Amino acid sequence: MPKNYRITLLPGDGIGPEIITVAVEVLEKVAALEGFSLTFHQGLIGGAAINAVGEPLPAATLDLCRQSDGVLLAAIGGYEWDNLPRPLRPETGLLGLRSGLGLFANLRPARVLPQLVAASSLRPEVVTGVDIMVVRELTGGVYFGQPKGVFADEAGHRRGVNTMAYTEAEIDRIARVALETAQKRNGRLCSVDKANVLEVSQLWRERVTELAKAYPGVELTHMYVDNAAMQLVRYPRQFDTIVTGNLFGDILSDIAAMLTGSIGMLPSASLGATGPGVFEPVHGSAPDIAGQDKANPIAQVLSAALLLRYGLGHPRGAERIEGAVQKVLDQGLRTGDIMAPGLTLVGCRRMGEALLAALEA
Ligand code: IPM
Ligand code: MG
Repeated sequence: MPKNYRITLLPGDGIGPEIITVAVEVLEKVAALEGFSLTFHQGLIGGAAINAVGEPLPAATLDLCRQSDGVLLAAIGGYEWDNLPRPLRPETGLLGLRSGLGLFANLRPARVLPQLVAASSLRPEVVTGVDIMVVRELTGGVYFGQPKGVFADEAGHRRGVNTMAYTEAEIDRIARVALETAQKRNGRLCSVDKANVLEVSQLWRERVTELAKAYPGVELTHMYVDNAAMQLVRYPRQFDTIVTGNLFGDILSDIAAMLTGSIGMLPSASLGATGPGVFEPVHGSAPDIAGQDKANPIAQVLSAALLLRYGLGHPRGAERIEGAVQKVLDQGLRTGDIMAPGLTLVGCRRMGEALLAALEA
């Protein structure tokens, strides 16, 4: 009997259903080629869940995820739900999924493919050869710290509050993931913080420095987040692996993404200590182009590759997918977000068909 894996699909909103359809076809093809099988179960999240059952993360979805070997998520959110109260917003569903599954480590690779050097908004000599892994802490920091809320004093003056807090244990576990990641890459780890101003960052820096002593092969440096944002656009090749907290990682991973030409190219993996990981594109639900067959499915397809590599332990399957992406780009096929003169503009479906053909070849 070939090994069978249970995959939870969370298409979500906007372009989500279009791009996840492509990724499922790609996964089925790879499974056939590699001799394993996949069973897919679909769950509700985000705006789609709000409309169907009145909440952005139904308990049934979390259960489904917990019972699976890996979760493939597309994207959530849209104009329709932008003005709902926070507990009912699609983003709350996503954050609940991350914390509910204990996914504290978010890996966001940003690699500039040679075929797409011209698609970057930065000069070719700046972005050529960029290959960065952002390791973002995902279940702590200011996203989750208490107290949080909008509070009124006796005079009725309101005050908005969020708390940036990290325990030593939270820092230690993400630092270990980052050190191990750097060790498998080029052995350079840059920890990004704001230790010149924030106590929480002071502790962060102290713990990362301490833990790095057990990894003599890894060269650890530290950088303040404002400088890191600048260095990422000035001389991005100086970075190999970056580790940082939740909010800084949110911001820096968008900057790193744009170096590659399009955020439509970037996958991510969110992993916990045990249990299934969630694999999702870095980009959002792009409601402006939803349902028009214009979306770039590549970030979703590369997220499926990460599902195979980190979630199911099938690096060969992941490499097949990554190779197919290179091939279709070599054929000159481009969705609108990465289009350049002289190349062939295709939609989401055509891009998917080309990927399947490239996997066969
Ligand atoms: C991301 C997104 C999310 C985040 C939003 C949609 C809650 O920007 O995954 O980077 O802030 O983490
Ligand atoms: Mg973000």
